[in-house]
Amino acid sequence: MIVTVTPNPSLDRTYEVPSLERGEVVRATGERMDPGGKGVNVSRAIAAAGRSTVAVLPLGGAPGALVADLLDAQGIEAAPVPVAGATRSNIALAEADGVLTKINAPGPELTAAEQELLLETVRQRSRGADWIACCGSLPRGLAPSWYADLVARAHTAGVRIALDTSGPALLAALRRGPDVVKPNAEELAEAVGRPLATVGDALKAAEELRGLGAGAVLASLGADGQLLVDATGAWFGSAPVDTVRSNVGAGDSSLAGFLIAGGSGPDALASAVAHGAAAVRLPGSVMPAPTDLDPAAVTVTPQVPVDRPLTEPVP
Ligand SMILES: Nc1ncnc2c1ncn2[C@@H]1O[C@H](COP(=O)(O)OP(=O)(O)OP(=O)(O)O)[C@@H](O)[C@H]1O
Ligand SMILES: [Mg+2]
Repeated sequence: MIVTVTPNPSLDRTYEVPSLERGEVVRATGERMDPGGKGVNVSRAIAAAGRSTVAVLPLGGAPGALVADLLDAQGIEAAPVPVAGATRSNIALAEADGVLTKINAPGPELTAAEQELLLETVRQRSRGADWIACCGSLPRGLAPSWYADLVARAHTAGVRIALDTSGPALLAALRRGPDVVKPNAEELAEAVGRPLATVGDALKAAEELRGLGAGAVLASLGADGQLLVDATGAWFGSAPVDTVRSNVGAGDSSLAGFLIAGGSGPDALASAVAHGAAAVRLPGSVMPAPTDLDPAAVTVTPQVPVDRPLTEPVP
């Protein structure tokens, strides 16, 4: 069982529009609503794999009630923590040529009592769980040390913890020794304060995050693949993708793939890469089912191609 935590979930509203004209009335040709947030995505991917998961998330107001309904309709078990502020609505404008413009709202500020209830709900729901996956940014009101507290509490309870966040929240949590962190190239560069030009630069940065306390680092490098660095060594995994339809949620799908394959070692890396590749072949943030995966296309090697330039270097 894998518990996911999404401290700042959203009601994602996507409007399909022919094209965007600033200052004009834009008529949508289609619209959809989805439960949003990175931990929610991880739960959706785990459920799509037929594995058990519960999504812990603060929900408030009418948008929060809608998120709960949408999760229920998708068969995702949720442990909502009622909060006074309304859950944010994030807007995505999808133009016919494939360009996606997103407007993300800040979300409600959680009171001290709500923050504690969130931690307590995670504690209750993670009894006997294999993993807790903490994903995404922190809402206003949560100190950058909030994930660090969660890591410490999870370890006291004997549960392993995976963390996908960035900035000060990531740096603070590293000191508490999360079992795995999953930065993308940008987040990795920000964490070490250096640009990344090659796979070797990413490897050095991932090793540095391990030095700061992470048990393992699963670094996702977009089209270039993924790196896994743990106490026993480093591996590089990749899979070719002919047609990329949407990379939204590819990192979340990868983390889910890593955890459902046990959450450590080269086989889990291969599963992460297979899930990432499958996710980018699917539209929007659709999460892959087992039939969407092509494990035979994945290569995992301990020979990290350190001199290979990144397709998208981070300046
Ligand atoms: N263009 C691509 N071609 C092939 N594979 C891709 C491509 N983009 C992403 N992937 C796969 O998906 C994984 C995750 O992508 P990425 O590094 O962009 O994650 P991310 O930025 O954390 O995404 P998100 O946070 O939106 O879920 C990559 O490591 C890779 O395995
Ligand atoms: Mg990500």
